[in-house]
Amino acid sequence: MKQIFASVLILMGMLGQVVAQSNKTQPMFKPGEIWRDTNGEHINAHGGGMLFHKGRYYWFGEHKVAGREGNKALVGVSCYSSKDLNTWKNEGPSLSVDAEGSGSEIEKGSVIERPKVIYNEKTRKFVMWFHLELKGQGYSAARTGVAVADKVTGPYTYLKSVRPHAGVWPENATEAHKTEPITVTDNDPDWEQKVAAGAFLQRDFKQGQMSRDMTLFVDDDGTAYHIASSEENRTLHIGKLKDDYLSFTDEYVRVFPGGRNEAPAIFKKDGKYYMITSGLTGWAPNPARSAVSDNMMRGWKSLGNPVRGTEEELSTTFLSQSTYVLPVQGQKDAFIFMADRWRPNNPIDGRYIWLPVFFEDGKPVLRWLEEWTLSDLKPKRRGESRYAE
Ligand code: DGJ
Repeated sequence: MKQIFASVLILMGMLGQVVAQSNKTQPMFKPGEIWRDTNGEHINAHGGGMLFHKGRYYWFGEHKVAGREGNKALVGVSCYSSKDLNTWKNEGPSLSVDAEGSGSEIEKGSVIERPKVIYNEKTRKFVMWFHLELKGQGYSAARTGVAVADKVTGPYTYLKSVRPHAGVWPENATEAHKTEPITVTDNDPDWEQKVAAGAFLQRDFKQGQMSRDMTLFVDDDGTAYHIASSEENRTLHIGKLKDDYLSFTDEYVRVFPGGRNEAPAIFKKDGKYYMITSGLTGWAPNPARSAVSDNMMRGWKSLGNPVRGTEEELSTTFLSQSTYVLPVQGQKDAFIFMADRWRPNNPIDGRYIWLPVFFEDGKPVLRWLEEWTLSDLKPKRRGESRYAE
């Protein structure tokens, strides 16, 4: 009897070890909960993007501070590193703001949002682009800034900011865009219609196009694209960067004119490009959108709201707004939707919503999970997710 009892105890011990081991190798993602770094502090990398480099993921994001003013750039761009996407080490600020009163474009109190970092194989430089608003000017500057570093974690050196494509028409501009000016006034009853038709494209032709919520995407051939909300957030602009990724080529297109898309995130699967965006409601959540194309520069087609779930989940995207879609290394067709649950009155408490992206009927699909692990990214059978009805 004693022997049986001892064997059962040993077995239970072994089972415990197996469970502990599997928990260790498969850490849980808990969307919306406080997510602590290796110092025990809630990760501070909002509106973020991800770079995989030499076996590690690097998460760049907005460093936020407590209180309403904490939405401004008071510190800079955070960087965290991880091997398993779950345990994150704070690598400190990668791009630091300049001193208050310095007059620098990135001085303390400016707005730095949605930083994204890409690696340039040719120059061996890490290139960071971000939405920049100049200090004391609200959101009127609508610029995109660029910084560069030799090391992935930085320090990044700020180079410049631009209103892209000054003096250049987009590839899909019409003859009318170029020759028939559209006048629009603030209280114009046809304001939305006229802006969608290109009133601000024309207005900003000389000085360069507005650039707010943005992301970057590097294609398999090394071409880098800058995707941003332009024309007062009414129309997306997709532009090709030059080979060194430090400036724009003259190639750009308007996508979904008047579509009010913000928070773009791009990924590629089976040769097709997918885009997830939000609508336009400030910090408040709204229904996400998705789109597909065979070509980054043309042919984008709407695929509708990618969220599947309750009415509330559909109308608020799980109370969040997209920021990035991360292809998981070493797993075919495994993608993570990264989004922000903003807390505008106490931005440091903003939460991260990470969820698997599945494909159903050729469309990216997002469903709520209280908790999940990387193994949940594997579809049960080819073409079918464990969540498919
Ligand atoms: C929505 C954008 O997606 C955010 O990045 C931020 O710019 C807020 N608007 C500001 O209201």
